[in-house]
Amino acid sequence: MIIATIICLLLTFIIYLHLSVYNLRRKYAHIPSLPFRPFYLYYMGHLPLLSKLRKMNPVGASLEGAFIQPVRKELNTDTFMIFFNKRCILVTQDLPKVSAVLSDHTMFKKTKNFRKNVSQLNGISVAGQHGLLVEPGSHVWYTKRKILDPAFHKKYLKITMDSMVFVSNKVVEYMRDNTVEGDCINMFPLLGRTAMEIVSRSGFNIDIDMIQDEDSQLYNAIQMWTKCMGLKFKHTFTWDWYPFHRKDKDEFAKAMIPTRRFLRQHAEERIASDDTEDDILSHIIKANSFSDQLTVEDTVDDFLTFFLAGMETTANSMSFVLWYLIKNEEVYTRLQEEVDEVYSGKSDLHFDDIPTLTYMDQVIKEVMRLSPPVLATSRQNVESVMLGDLILPKETIIRISQWALQTDPRHWENPLVFNPENFASNKKIKPFTYMPFMAGPRSCIGRNFAVLEMKIILSKLLRHFTFIDSDPENTVLETTTDITCKPKHGVLVRVKERAC
Ligand code: HEM
Repeated sequence: MIIATIICLLLTFIIYLHLSVYNLRRKYAHIPSLPFRPFYLYYMGHLPLLSKLRKMNPVGASLEGAFIQPVRKELNTDTFMIFFNKRCILVTQDLPKVSAVLSDHTMFKKTKNFRKNVSQLNGISVAGQHGLLVEPGSHVWYTKRKILDPAFHKKYLKITMDSMVFVSNKVVEYMRDNTVEGDCINMFPLLGRTAMEIVSRSGFNIDIDMIQDEDSQLYNAIQMWTKCMGLKFKHTFTWDWYPFHRKDKDEFAKAMIPTRRFLRQHAEERIASDDTEDDILSHIIKANSFSDQLTVEDTVDDFLTFFLAGMETTANSMSFVLWYLIKNEEVYTRLQEEVDEVYSGKSDLHFDDIPTLTYMDQVIKEVMRLSPPVLATSRQNVESVMLGDLILPKETIIRISQWALQTDPRHWENPLVFNPENFASNKKIKPFTYMPFMAGPRSCIGRNFAVLEMKIILSKLLRHFTFIDSDPENTVLETTTDITCKPKHGVLVRVKERAC
């Protein structure tokens, strides 16, 4: 009897599995995809192939680096399906489709899965249910975005520049005190703390030293959050129950709970003080006051959203710039000359000097073309819809990879060669082929903030130090991707102080 019941249950499970996989595949049968061979791959979908391609590809362990270009070439189409067990993703590199998806935030929203994964971790709210980054795209997102946008306009950036310059001087001081000429150092952690201190000072008026204090609680909490989120994405099936993750989860909670308490107190003081500041926090407070349903906890979620979105991305980009510079002597020399010229006779840059750093602008853009910290984004259609010539069933996950578009040989000459001339003033760039900050209404709100910050920090570093490649034989940039794409081993350099 027991054996018969077990067999029945097993058969029911197998039939259920088969039907759910079969129905999903049938729903998308009109869209090209790679065949599933041998037969058992039918159930696993393209997972085994992805694992094989991942091992061969240098761009982190990401779907985009491993899968998109080879599959596009093999199927000879820009739009195709990838299947993983009972899940599937539509990948598109077709520019009109990319434009349609990114431009219409009411039909193509951020995915439910993204909110589920990023809003909280182990029961502790982080980016929140209504945070700007994770909100799928309702009235709440729209109203918040409209109120927050002005915080990133030129007028605000001009005010905020003083704190960026202040932090850049602290970085120089730290390096003078802590580096021995000729020793090999890793610039990556310092650039992480730099980006974090800039967001907290200029965005929220929080005066915490993260340059000197390598163990700052705020910095550690964000680090633990990104680390655990990366682990959660990587170990989707085991994260919730596998005891092996216990230590990381405990460390995350130990860092995040007091950090939330500290941020709540800071927010409450500002709310109570008839806020007269003009920073990101004052805009967040204004944005959250429009709805009775949003509480001070939502304000703390927004705080954390800006730390998450603004810290690692900018730190990774600055690190990538340093890596490309030490590997490309000619570009380094030309950029150094520009920086020295713009600085001549001054110890700090002014807002009006920034547009004169034209070659710096080209270099940053080219680095962000080859090594964008955010490799891709996903959207989900709220209803079944025509996308170009395809009928998309409701709630299809659509993946758009800026990395694949930015290294597509149809849009870029010698796409994998580092060449800042790609962004010379006479070069035309096709819309949607270059979007490290994404495009459309859900593109990065902090784009101008990040670029200004990178120009100030990098020019200051180049003005005061010479960076020498500590491992000239190693010419491959190894990256790793958890939430964002970053240099796997940091940026190892030897530093020499310049006389200036
Ligand atoms: C080099 C640095 C940066 C890069 C490469 C970057 C990239 C991006 C990208 C690609 C998106 C769109 C994500 C998606 O569509 O799924 C995004 C959104 C966002 N970014 Fe950035 N970002 C950077 C710096 C910043 C900074 C400094 C801040 C704030 C201080 C910031 C705040 C945000 C926010 C709040 C969103 C969500 C916007 C919305 O959905 O309305 N980012 N960023």
